[in-house]
Amino acid sequence: MKSNGYYGEYGGKFMPETLAGPLENVEKAYRQAMKDPDFLEDLNKDHKFFIGRETPLYYAQNLSQELGIHLYFKREDLCHTGAHKINNAIGQARLAKRMGIDHLIAETGAGQHGIATATAAAKLGMKCTVFMGFSDIKRQAHNVDRMRMLGATVIAVEKGSNVLKDATSEALRYWVSHPTSCFYVIGSAIGPAPYPEMVRNFQSIIGTEARKQCLNQFGTLPDEVIACIGGGSNAIGIFSAFIEDTSVKLTGVEAAGKGLHTDFHAATITSGKVGVFHGSKMYLLQDENGQIKETHSISAGLDYPGVGPEHCYLNDIKRVDYRSVTDKEVIEAFRKTVRSEGIIPALESAHAIAHVLKSTYPKGYTIVLNLSGRGDKDLDQLLREHKEEVL
Ligand SMILES: Cc1ncc(COP(=O)(O)O)c(C=O)c1O
Repeated sequence: MKSNGYYGEYGGKFMPETLAGPLENVEKAYRQAMKDPDFLEDLNKDHKFFIGRETPLYYAQNLSQELGIHLYFKREDLCHTGAHKINNAIGQARLAKRMGIDHLIAETGAGQHGIATATAAAKLGMKCTVFMGFSDIKRQAHNVDRMRMLGATVIAVEKGSNVLKDATSEALRYWVSHPTSCFYVIGSAIGPAPYPEMVRNFQSIIGTEARKQCLNQFGTLPDEVIACIGGGSNAIGIFSAFIEDTSVKLTGVEAAGKGLHTDFHAATITSGKVGVFHGSKMYLLQDENGQIKETHSISAGLDYPGVGPEHCYLNDIKRVDYRSVTDKEVIEAFRKTVRSEGIIPALESAHAIAHVLKSTYPKGYTIVLNLSGRGDKDLDQLLREHKEEVL
């Protein structure tokens, strides 16, 4: 499927000349590391003793009963630091260390990737700088304190719409001016090659575990696997183990925000056009002149106008079905999950749940849903903006 950094026509390495050398170094180091038993052993220990893997495959009994299906949550919310992002951050941080680079830079939207990178940096004794849009800093203030406490410098980005895409642009700009002294830990399955492949592989542990757990716990593969899509890392992580199992339907859920008929959404595959952004070719939300459109989502982590190249390809070949849900549907799904399962999901993950709640399935249908993170980070925002709906 993938050749030379491309997934079909998507992907590639569209970067300034200054980064050609550093990208080549990252790729070389990554390929060597993945064949080095010591590196893999360290990663394995991190999974087990630092992140707390394997994460459970949890039977959501009350929702299952209500919907007449079997709904399982892959509990990435139980990972150390509260989301799947740590699986990737620790992998890339170890890679940087192996390359002799001790300054990590990262972008963050919801703050989860920033926290994961700051955590990995603290553990491995490295310096860390996190770029974060000013709007997201306001939405996720608690996470900013956590990053600072972990020793990271958080740089507020006041450009564009002050969200994830602007933080990513700023982190890339910083990397261009410090190409050899820092390592850019990209937080989703986006960016120039080899990042989409590397992030997918560091996140593939989710799918590998989930597939094994399905076979152990209920003796067969599920009918469907569902995950939310920002840049696409939690989704590609869980999908990767099931792509060859053609009996398993795969569904990615994007943010329809205030509705696809408005300008306030982030449903990239559903409404985007092909273009180049942040180093790779992918579906993008653009206006008629090809300018990147402002996006909106209730969840900072999905508020991004692009999506990883592998997802674009999987959409074109119709292996994954990409759908979208609105903010309103997400709040309802959030509330329902908290009240019926005693689990507070991240607003990102609540997108996947909202899709299940609005769909109809045959009785006894089995779904594995990637619960990518926990919602503690979203509580301030929800109580500020949606108190009546969630209390
Ligand atoms: C909990 C959680 N889920 C999902 C996402 C979306 O990212 P991705 O599509 O890369 O998994 C984020 C991003 O911040 C997140 O924090």
